[in-house]
Amino acid sequence: MLIITIGCSISCKKNTSVENETVTPHETHRLQYHFSPPAHWMNDPNGMVFYKGEYHLFYQYYPDSTVWGPMHWGHAVSKDLVHWEHLPIALYPDSLGYIFSGSAMVDWKNTSGLGTQTDPPLIAIYTYHDAVKAEKGDSTYQTQGLAFSNDAGRTWNKYEQNPIMKNPGIKDFRDPKVFWYEPQQKWIMSLAVYDHVRFYSSPDLKTWTLESEFGKTSGSHAGVWECPDLFPLRVEGSDTVKWILLLSINPGGPNGGSATQYFIGHFDGKTFTNENSDTTTIWLDGGRDNYAGVTWSDMPASDGRKIFMGWMSNWLYGQVVPTETWRSAMTIPRQLTLHKDTSGFRIHSNPVKELESLRDSEFSFQNDTLLTEMDLTSKIGFSPAQMEIILELEPDSVTSDIGLSISNSRGEEYRIGYNLESGQYYSDRTKAGKDTFSPEFAKPIVITQGNLREKNLRWHIFLDVASCEFFADNGAVVMTEIFFPNENYQQLKLYAKDGQVIIRKATFYNMKSIW
Ligand code: FRU
Repeated sequence: MLIITIGCSISCKKNTSVENETVTPHETHRLQYHFSPPAHWMNDPNGMVFYKGEYHLFYQYYPDSTVWGPMHWGHAVSKDLVHWEHLPIALYPDSLGYIFSGSAMVDWKNTSGLGTQTDPPLIAIYTYHDAVKAEKGDSTYQTQGLAFSNDAGRTWNKYEQNPIMKNPGIKDFRDPKVFWYEPQQKWIMSLAVYDHVRFYSSPDLKTWTLESEFGKTSGSHAGVWECPDLFPLRVEGSDTVKWILLLSINPGGPNGGSATQYFIGHFDGKTFTNENSDTTTIWLDGGRDNYAGVTWSDMPASDGRKIFMGWMSNWLYGQVVPTETWRSAMTIPRQLTLHKDTSGFRIHSNPVKELESLRDSEFSFQNDTLLTEMDLTSKIGFSPAQMEIILELEPDSVTSDIGLSISNSRGEEYRIGYNLESGQYYSDRTKAGKDTFSPEFAKPIVITQGNLREKNLRWHIFLDVASCEFFADNGAVVMTEIFFPNENYQQLKLYAKDGQVIIRKATFYNMKSIW
């Protein structure tokens, strides 16, 4: 992001708290089943960790405004990844700086000595951003800090000897993501360092040794590197394990602004080796609104899933979107899996199964023919604003375009679909509603998908008042997009051009609100 320095005393511990504050569900544009703060500014998800039956979600939070400012870690917990309880702010800025992005982990062996073997501590490792130093032109303003909790994340103590990692004189030196590397019994930290990632190791989470660097010449460098996440993932249908390095960049995303790329390769406890060429850039999401996402730490082995969540916005316009009392939501949680596709190894993203618990009324049909347009508004029996959709479609050989349109009585319309001639999926929010807040917002986009003229299409779509998350080709294609209609969408249509499409099966669920 563009760091703006806002005049604020960084040592001020505010009494502001989100404890017991609940989201006001009926505010305009308030998403109904995505995580968002009750009020004020939020960006990156931080410190996502599973501990004692709870999923913790911390997040970049500024409790005094609806735009970015001195960062805190907001906090929420969930037992099912779907319903969230807002907790008090976990980490406040202190004399070392604002609390930027980072990770949290369970120190099972109490390597840090900050808990006990029987009651292992939760550790948070994050970046300190010293705005005063930054303003003076001192480039050492980002350092890493540690905090620990001995009560399942309810209260946090900052480590007395912070910072645990000083700055070597590089302005962008942030977003530590830490995990336990079992084969060598040590912790590994991935850190974003301007145009590359540095890997450090530690026996105790407090002292860190530089192991290697990766990426100065790899992938996209159209923006600053941020929020790395390194983890192993088994290739589906085989025993092969590959290492994935997620890496967010801003600006320079394929559709403008912020986006997340990833690398696939090998990690030996010291060095990450990219198995693709330096010029290969692979994006995690073809939409504009999925940034700074990372995965949950310490998922139980019996579960084994890699679960991802991103910030559902974009630094191009995130601070000016037309929500009045809060800004931004997270994506739905997604399971990441690794597959060998026609274009090589690729991550597939799919909604976590826990979301099924939100399904309310259902409308479905099978084996119908879509010719030009099918208006489903009166058939589904609920508002399309808040909906999960699963479509199995078989276009004939002359169909050139298939899609889904949601619209309202003001003529505002959002479309998402597939152009069979170009083989591109697209999301079109050019007429979706409010867009004058940013010239960058409404530009149309397309993304290319792998299997041109794939015969059987299966789409999984989540609409939530002001967002669409679209999963196709078993999660190989993902588009995450936000929009701001002046009134909730009320009409739902499917459309096809030039040919006809057999709708093998279509299911529409009204989704319950989590608030
Ligand atoms: C990514 C980011 C991080 C930083 C945080 C500050 O969106 O810029 O690199 O730690 O946001 O809020």
